[in-house]
Amino acid sequence: MPKPVIQVGGLKKYFYQYKKPPGLKGIFTSLFKRQYFTVKAVDDISFTVNPGEIIGFIGPNGAGKTTTIKILSGILHPTQGEVKVLGYTPYQRETAYLKQIALVMGQKMQQLLLDLPAMDALLLNKDIYEISDNDFKRLLSELGGILNVYKFLHIQVRRLSLGQRMRLELLASLIHNPKVIFLDEPTIGLDVTTQQQVRDFFKDYNRRFGTTIILTSHYMEDVQQLSKRIIFINHGRLFFDGSLDDFVKRHAPYKLIKVIFTTKMDKGRVCQLSIKGSSWQKSTDYIWILKTPRNQTADSLNQIFRSWADNIRDIDISEITLSDIVTQIINDDADNS
Ligand SMILES: Nc1ncnc2c1ncn2[C@@H]1O[C@H](COP(=O)(O)OP(=O)(O)OP(=O)(O)O)[C@@H](O)[C@H]1O
Ligand SMILES: [Mg+2]
Repeated sequence: MPKPVIQVGGLKKYFYQYKKPPGLKGIFTSLFKRQYFTVKAVDDISFTVNPGEIIGFIGPNGAGKTTTIKILSGILHPTQGEVKVLGYTPYQRETAYLKQIALVMGQKMQQLLLDLPAMDALLLNKDIYEISDNDFKRLLSELGGILNVYKFLHIQVRRLSLGQRMRLELLASLIHNPKVIFLDEPTIGLDVTTQQQVRDFFKDYNRRFGTTIILTSHYMEDVQQLSKRIIFINHGRLFFDGSLDDFVKRHAPYKLIKVIFTTKMDKGRVCQLSIKGSSWQKSTDYIWILKTPRNQTADSLNQIFRSWADNIRDIDISEITLSDIVTQIINDDADNS
């Protein structure tokens, strides 16, 4: 077994927030007697990550993803628990540690300055990270090429589009060739083409350098394309840790059979074919979808053919998407709390 790159045990991060009572009276009372309440942002989570893994770290808003990433990258102290990354304790912020990691936050430019061209930030990082001339040239040409940013290197960042800035931000974040990358919503706000470029970039980067990556995203496409393993957290607790395939099988034990008819079909007619454990959903007058248990797909298909062979134009079988599963889990949780 390889030695884990990341080890997290019984991690907790509680924030103590000041609660202001409502109204004018509240302002006066709070001057003398402050009330606090506890936000359990991360509440006892444990996991390990092996070298080269790309973990899809997912969960609803406020689940504790960014807080965990901030602890792993040394920005926040944990309230309790063990955290080791590459053998270091992140919050001690040792230079040797910071030189081996990168934190990329999609909503926030951390490396680039608006008034300067990206090349200035790159040269600054070259000094900070003590990158040799040769390594700098090599990575600039390799990464700059894949990210397709050569032509923007000398333009003031302020004049560039969001997608161009993000690609340069990635270049500046990774120019020191880190061993571990923390990506907090790296594709947020980007158009679909740029999102795909960013995904392709990290797929390639991980393959090339064997870098370990922790990725949070609300776009399940990111997770689906990049991660074999997901860690799902909710209310600061671990909800699932395992392979993406197992997650889908466990939470979506169904397949969808889309039947495109040659004639209009109404509910009465479609529902004449009742298949155990399955249900029909209307898409259009001509298109109906059967949600059927995974292990019964062949049998359901058979029955559909036997009943309507002459009325079927096409059939398409698909999985319930990761995005649908996650939405379902979050909605169920909201209903139950
Ligand atoms: N500095 C802080 N002070 C007080 N509460 C905080 C602080 N930072 C985060 N929280 C709270 O901790 C909880 C977890 O926040 P966090 O940002 O980790 O969630 P997240 O999973 O990243 O959510 P999102 O998907 O919206 O980015 C939230 O309830 C948030 O309000
Ligand atoms: Mg977040």
